[in-house]
Amino acid sequence: MRSIRLQFFSIIIVILLILLLLFNTYPLISSRDLVFQEKESGMLSQASVVAASLSGLDSLGRGGIEEVLRLMDVSGYGRVAVADEHGTLVYDSGGGGAPEELLRALEGKNVFRSDFDETAFFSACAVPFTTQNGQRGALYLYERDQERAGLIMTVQGRIRASSLAIAGLAIVLVLVFAELLLSRIRELVQSMRIVAGGDYEHRLKVKGKDEIAELGDEFNLLTERLDETEKQRRRFVSDASHELKTPLASIRLLADSVVQNDNVDMATVREFAADISSEARRLQRTTEELLDLSRLDDGVQRLSEPVDLKQVALDALVPLRPVAAERQVHLHPELSEGCVIMANTDDMFHVIFNLTENAVKYNVPDGDVWIRLEADEEKIMLTVADSGIGIPEEDRLNIFSRFYRVDKARSRASGGTGLGLSIVHDAVLAHGGSIAVGANKPQGSVFVVTFPRPDEEETGI
Ligand SMILES: Nc1ncnc2c1ncn2[C@@H]1O[C@H](COP(=O)(O)OP(=O)(O)O)[C@@H](O)[C@H]1O
Ligand SMILES: [Mg+2]
Repeated sequence: MRSIRLQFFSIIIVILLILLLLFNTYPLISSRDLVFQEKESGMLSQASVVAASLSGLDSLGRGGIEEVLRLMDVSGYGRVAVADEHGTLVYDSGGGGAPEELLRALEGKNVFRSDFDETAFFSACAVPFTTQNGQRGALYLYERDQERAGLIMTVQGRIRASSLAIAGLAIVLVLVFAELLLSRIRELVQSMRIVAGGDYEHRLKVKGKDEIAELGDEFNLLTERLDETEKQRRRFVSDASHELKTPLASIRLLADSVVQNDNVDMATVREFAADISSEARRLQRTTEELLDLSRLDDGVQRLSEPVDLKQVALDALVPLRPVAAERQVHLHPELSEGCVIMANTDDMFHVIFNLTENAVKYNVPDGDVWIRLEADEEKIMLTVADSGIGIPEEDRLNIFSRFYRVDKARSRASGGTGLGLSIVHDAVLAHGGSIAVGANKPQGSVFVVTFPRPDEEETGI
């Protein structure tokens, strides 16, 4: 976390440095250049005017030059000098030898040079001229301008001070902002730790509407799902233990009553043994179905093969015919050809068997069960309808939950475990299908399973 702040901070510092550098050099350089240009044009034009007057002289005499200069008012210049064509100074208001600019001007062109050293502008210019008697010469003007330099340096100083203040403010703001951001991230991480520690009820208090708030919302959603799954798991374990406990208790009771009674007749022993056997069968079925469910739950890619649902339905009906006959329920299979999907044969057997078994078990004497298989362009549909006792509307939502039964006693009496429809549901979904339940008219229930029709290439048909 410290590193995010560091990254943030370094980026800001770099940006600020660049800005500071820019603010503290660019205005200085451009205003200095502006002054140079101004000096060049100003001094050159004044020098030309003076030179023009000098050209009016008959010859290059000191007296004549002084006269002209006095008239032209060149008092603002630090040094004014005039040289003849040999470079000899005929007039010089300052001291020292002939300046280089002057010598260059004698070659016939205007010369200008300017320097700036933060205390003053030093500018020099020289222009050539020719007197009336054809004598060539050159005029040299030199100026030291402290006033302009001072102005520029004051402005520069102000810019520096204010840019430093702004940079300081920016750094403070960035630090505060980073701290706010980091504290929210810390809160999120803190919440994650709490949830990771097992407190799935914990929720993060989400503030604002930005990306971090979004992250918080997502996190809460995730935790909620985790919470839900965890509760489901606990419920499942407790339901499963309960389901296993009850038959085991009755087995023990039955066995004990035989063992503890000295004079039980054979008929009673037989009766008890038959009860024990039926309880054991139910236990066996429960454990087998639990294993089926956990296999489906694993989410491991199931073996997918072309499955002809008609054949599976015919196979599933074989063990159910005697059950149906016993309960005087009539089976009406209407199985179309060509209902082939990519699935797992065992899973599809479970689907058709469990739905039909329920339709038979939760039926009435002389009732009917219709098992219809049909295919159209897009889907393959399995409908299992019955004229039985029906499912109350409020139970239909829960019917696919583990161990859920509408009438516990009735389910138990017919060897039910309450897991059949869970297996059907999970198996259908595992193979990309969907399942719906509704009421049959005038009475009974309808279960409709739909699978998307596979490509012809997939099934090879
Ligand atoms: N065709 C049906 N008609 C009426 N009730 C049904 C039907 N199918 C399922 N049920 C109800 O749904 C419950 C769950 O079914 P299932 O998961 O197969 O468990 P089981 O059959 O072992 O009780 C049943 O106990 C029963 O109450
Ligand atoms: Mg069942």
